[in-house]
Amino acid sequence: MSEPETPSEPIPVAELTAREARAEHKHLAAQVEAADIAYHQNDAPVMDDAAYDALRRRLVAIEEAHPQLKAKASASARVGAKPSARFAKIRHRVPMLSLDNAFTDEAVAEFVQRVHRFLGRKDDEPIAFTAEPKIDGLSLSLRYEQGALVHAATRGDGEEGEDVTVNARTIADSEIPKTLAWDDVPEVAEVRGEVYLGHADFAGINERQREKGLAEFANPRNAAAGSLRQLDASITASRPLRFFAYAWGEMPVLPAPTQSGVVEAFGRWGFRTNPLMARCETVDDLIAQYRLIESRRASLGYDIDGVVYKVDDLSLQARLGFVSRAPRWAIAHKFPAELATTVLEAIEIQVGRTGALSPVARLRPVTVGGVVVTNATLHNEDYIRGFDSKGERIREGEPPDIRVGDTVTVKRAGDVIPRVAAVDLGKRPADAKPYAFPTLCPACSSHATREINPRSGKEDAVRRCTGGLICPAQAVERLKHFVSRDALDIDGLGDKQIEFFHADPDLPVKEPADIFTLAARDAAEPLKKLKAKEGFGAQSVAKLFEAIEDRRKPPLNRFIFGLGIRHIGETNARLLARHYGSFEALRAAGLAAADPASPERQELDAIDGVGPTVVEALTDFFGEPHNQELLDRLLAQVTPQPLEAVASASPVAGKIVVFTGALERMTRDEAKAMAERLGAKVAGSVSSKTDLLVAGPGAGSKLKDAAKHGIEVIDEAGWFDLVGGPTAG
Ligand code: IVH
Repeated sequence: MSEPETPSEPIPVAELTAREARAEHKHLAAQVEAADIAYHQNDAPVMDDAAYDALRRRLVAIEEAHPQLKAKASASARVGAKPSARFAKIRHRVPMLSLDNAFTDEAVAEFVQRVHRFLGRKDDEPIAFTAEPKIDGLSLSLRYEQGALVHAATRGDGEEGEDVTVNARTIADSEIPKTLAWDDVPEVAEVRGEVYLGHADFAGINERQREKGLAEFANPRNAAAGSLRQLDASITASRPLRFFAYAWGEMPVLPAPTQSGVVEAFGRWGFRTNPLMARCETVDDLIAQYRLIESRRASLGYDIDGVVYKVDDLSLQARLGFVSRAPRWAIAHKFPAELATTVLEAIEIQVGRTGALSPVARLRPVTVGGVVVTNATLHNEDYIRGFDSKGERIREGEPPDIRVGDTVTVKRAGDVIPRVAAVDLGKRPADAKPYAFPTLCPACSSHATREINPRSGKEDAVRRCTGGLICPAQAVERLKHFVSRDALDIDGLGDKQIEFFHADPDLPVKEPADIFTLAARDAAEPLKKLKAKEGFGAQSVAKLFEAIEDRRKPPLNRFIFGLGIRHIGETNARLLARHYGSFEALRAAGLAAADPASPERQELDAIDGVGPTVVEALTDFFGEPHNQELLDRLLAQVTPQPLEAVASASPVAGKIVVFTGALERMTRDEAKAMAERLGAKVAGSVSSKTDLLVAGPGAGSKLKDAAKHGIEVIDEAGWFDLVGGPTAG
């Protein structure tokens, strides 16, 4: 055991300059982390408790004097959860999905209506749903083969999770059975559900953390995650983790034809299932179950954050399918946001990727639902002035604006960014001055303007920097977006690293292509090698370069999304990737489509789901010579890969299909979703590019168009013959 490295006569914290504080903080945090790893993971402490406590006390004192240092995932705040890179990855054979949210009873009614419409059911034909608590923990997928637990994986990004099998095996059998010995357990059974901690157990864990001088967990969910994702499984074993089973992945033979039936079978197999799950037939029943669960919330003994509704009949679930990452057959009805009151200390402006100037409230720290909040969004300029997008007053009182010094109500719902929801004008200090929203970009001093929407003729709510490519704030945000999880997903290249490289004089990263030349540039600079720089160990540099290399062939949809073209979110990016197949095809179309009379424009207009705003955004983007040059440089480094032929075996994969007339066995939405699932592109109108027209009774002009272009026409029965029968029902 060696003594911790501390200065022999430490300078009093209050006398440290900001720079000194930063340097010492970094040093201390590294020492604390090393000590934590030695203690928790290697079971081999490198210092005694008193020395460790002294280190932590100084770290905390520095953070209290310089709170900006605390924001950076500091060792003082981190407990348990270890970087995911240390766990092996497991690819989910069936993706682990997320849920769409509803925040109001009306949104629930709309969800039920959407389900009816999609399935072509009349509103008064009942469809059964289940309603059950939404557990606030972390989801886990348990794979059993011949009844034996073989794998446990966290959700990860939904496609690939972390292998926590060893940890899961330490959880009590009453929560996670190690074997399933019932006749109706299929050979392969992936049971999914939520790992969580009860309130009492959470309090006990934090008490022990306190006793050991370790930082406490912020809430039961973090504690559960930290406990499960432990490299040292003996720590997992010491934490009383619990598990509710509510879903499944691969399961070739299901024990029942309904959601409730399968969950019941899970109960028989030895899993705990939630006793508050009910079967409901109307919106009113769903809401009643929601109210019941809400009324029990405080006495449940574990955290829940809403109620999940699911279509009960599994054949209907199969027909409904998914959009993006969420099923059409389920929704989470979230409990209302939590509120707190505090003082607005400053208003800062952040410049986003598209140049939007967003006002951020800096708040006197306040706890909202167990989390300390210091920042919240103030929405936009009009909101601060006290008006909505239609120019109507949104609050009583005179004047109705928000000023620095005001007492405000902060709202936080689940994981979303907290927002300022109200202001108490009665508590306004006498000297508070109206806030002047900047009209120049704080990052590049270009004019910031509010565009006039050509369709509505109204001013846009958002003020935008007009600096475009010269604005450093936009450039940094675009880079962050390019490497973010849903885009290129480059491990080890987060917001902080992007900011570092963007400002670095030796190895600057000013545009996406520069990321891929980093390693070569670093190698060519023997004296200023990256690993010699502050904060980069040789190992982390090697890892970073490896992670970058690994992304030279990004999936086309992620690449398109990563470009950050306005209005091109994940869904549109996937749509375009499917339709055009290659980036070169999209690029050529985007360029040519600037001419409204071009066939490329007509093709773009005809893609189902692509509206005029998207078309305009694409032609604007590809029409900008700077963007073309940037793309040339980027494409010299990376090669986007076409979407995996989703169902290349299907006879309609890659075909352009149009549906017209009445369909009897499926609704139009359902037909479209089915065709897309099989790899076809669905268009709204017939052109020479159409491969197949599926026409039901009452088809009109499209039938004539098809005849004109000599396109194959089949009816609904022909469609099912072609693709192999209806999926259900
Ligand atoms: S169903 C295909 N049921 O919520 C849908 N999820 O926001 C699979 N969750 O990742 C999820 N309680 O971790 C479902 N009763 C419940 C749940 C639940 C909690 C979590 C789950 C999921 C997240 C989605």
